[in-house]
Amino acid sequence: MNRELLKQYVAFYRDLGVKSFYRRTVLPPPVEAVPEAASGSVIPPPAMTDSEILFPPVPEHDSLARIRADMGDCTRCRLCKSRTQLVFGAGNESAPLVFVGEAPGAEEDAQGVPFVGRAGQLLTQMIENTAVKEGIPLKRADVYICNVVKCRPPENRTPEPDEMEMCGQFLFRQLSVIKPKAICALGGTAARALLGRKEGVTRLRGNWYKWRDIPVMVTYHPSYLLRPYNQNAKREAWEDLKKVLHFVYD
Ligand code: URA
Repeated sequence: MNRELLKQYVAFYRDLGVKSFYRRTVLPPPVEAVPEAASGSVIPPPAMTDSEILFPPVPEHDSLARIRADMGDCTRCRLCKSRTQLVFGAGNESAPLVFVGEAPGAEEDAQGVPFVGRAGQLLTQMIENTAVKEGIPLKRADVYICNVVKCRPPENRTPEPDEMEMCGQFLFRQLSVIKPKAICALGGTAARALLGRKEGVTRLRGNWYKWRDIPVMVTYHPSYLLRPYNQNAKREAWEDLKKVLHFVYD
């Protein structure tokens, strides 16, 4: 970790009221196959390089409200310059299932709610229609939806690694507070943030991994599914979603 990033970390956690820090060498978030969570092939995690990361303790009695308050009018990274407002997350705060996307787009930036644009409408349909077909009483409002970064990147570019690392701390706190039964990572950015894996979604999708102790299913991002030539990917995404819904709600 470079000095600048280290300084930002220290400032960030000082803002949270954390005064004592310790250093330790850790691996990126653990990536383990979940043999019993679902059948199907599971790609073993690659050997990972050590990276030295500061891991201050998460505040005791953390809550989504506290995390949101800690973010405040965040200016910790350059994305604050391109956003209208921060898009924290939405849905059931004790949901057994959390969907994690990449970053807010134009519509989300305007409304302050994740996945409300075209990709979001597709996600909502996918969740609700798959649930109906599978006999699972589930609406979008029953799950929790958020993104790796909470601010819209300029021209919807992919978030940079340092932006993901900075904002990822808040995502990890959100997931730690909600403690869902499973997480669905939508697209490569979410898979990278949660699993530390760089392979493409085509390779990762349909299998179970873990973020800390929580099973993670990787699938295509709905924006990718909106492209007209991705019929096959659509079918695969429905299959992935069926696996997730049955794992969580059966
Ligand atoms: N794409 C995302 O990854 N997240 C959103 O909230 C909207 C579009």
